[in-house]
Amino acid sequence: MKKGTVVLLGVTGGIAAYKAAQLCSDLVKAGACVHVLMTANATQFVSPLTFETLSGNKVSVDTFDRLFQWKTEHISLAKAAQLFLVAPATANVIAKMAAGLADDMLTTTFLAASCPKVVAPAMNTGMLDNPATQVNLRVLEERGIRIVQPETGHLACGDEGRGRLASLPVLLEEAERALAPQDLAGRQVVITAGPTQEAIDPVRYITNHSTGKMGYQTALAALRRGARVTLISGPTSLEPPMGARLVKVTSAAQMFQAVQEALPTADIVIKSAAVADYRPLQAADHKIKKKEGDLSIPLARTDDILAWLGEHRRPGQAVIGFSMETDDLIQNSSKKLEKKKVDMIVANSLTQEGAGFGGDTNVACFLTKDGVEQLPKLSKLELGDRILTRALAFLG
Ligand code: CTP
Repeated sequence: MKKGTVVLLGVTGGIAAYKAAQLCSDLVKAGACVHVLMTANATQFVSPLTFETLSGNKVSVDTFDRLFQWKTEHISLAKAAQLFLVAPATANVIAKMAAGLADDMLTTTFLAASCPKVVAPAMNTGMLDNPATQVNLRVLEERGIRIVQPETGHLACGDEGRGRLASLPVLLEEAERALAPQDLAGRQVVITAGPTQEAIDPVRYITNHSTGKMGYQTALAALRRGARVTLISGPTSLEPPMGARLVKVTSAAQMFQAVQEALPTADIVIKSAAVADYRPLQAADHKIKKKEGDLSIPLARTDDILAWLGEHRRPGQAVIGFSMETDDLIQNSSKKLEKKKVDMIVANSLTQEGAGFGGDTNVACFLTKDGVEQLPKLSKLELGDRILTRALAFLG
């Protein structure tokens, strides 16, 4: 989140209001300037002082409060807002928002604000499942408001069921997505990530040091910008980003098949996976027992998936590859750009400080037919974002 992003946090009168205190704190830590608006009922659960302490800003409850900084507070707050997040949202306030009612500070400001809006319902299952609430939620969704579906679990009323406020990481991620430009909406992005494993026998395999972070962070960046994402991943310990379609593979051959299946519907393909160039010619069925002397394992070439993509993509599809080198980065990467017939190679050197396997940053340059762009050290998320911006330009 950009530092200083103005977030209005609407807190309504349900027991989950206590969780909004942590949410407020997390938003502030993420860099947001948070203004909290509470309904009168919400103040029965949590004191405005809690939110004032956490946000550093006055909490708005009463529309006719005379102790305010701006002239017409609900309008100035609405104008300043870059995001309006209502969490928790009760059935009653959801109904008011759907009907366009404005009878307190929260609903008045909600009606006046034109920024992206996120609503996170939290209530008893019966109230949630009631057709009235479902219709109201649909109405809000049709108006472009993001609804963060509640979770299933133990509810404060003692019931087990759907209705628990979505978890804080989910709410924060939804906030990020609501703030991001939706310039990849309707686009299908296919990303390969992680290493491959090539079996020697049932116990051993050949692999490399890739952790998959670059591909997973690029997938996250694409999802934030509204893309549908297929993440074809070799073995990693990473959690896939929320909303990604994960296709798990182990070997280069499996990754090749998954890419072939995904290509027809893809707009953008980004091949950040570290694919093995060689596999054991014959994987043994049984564990290879040690013997006296050395052992040689004959290796066979795997298919070059990126080169296949360069040959088989349709006009209008953007294909981007990676290049990891220890020597002659630009020279070697330029050869890959030409040979594999792709739109761009993201070249990174293992010897560069801030680049390489497993870290949160990368130092890369973009190679295209028009030349080389050297990028500064960036987080892998930021680099993924820049790759996507380039990919969009290739689509025209
Ligand atoms: N790649 C691929 N299939 C392979 C090998 C590599 O699709 N069998 C892709 C990688 O996903 C990456 C790009 O090709 O996008 C370059 O990978 P890299 O390992 O840097 O180079 P190679 O082409 O394998 O050549 P070399 O190992 O000689 O550097």
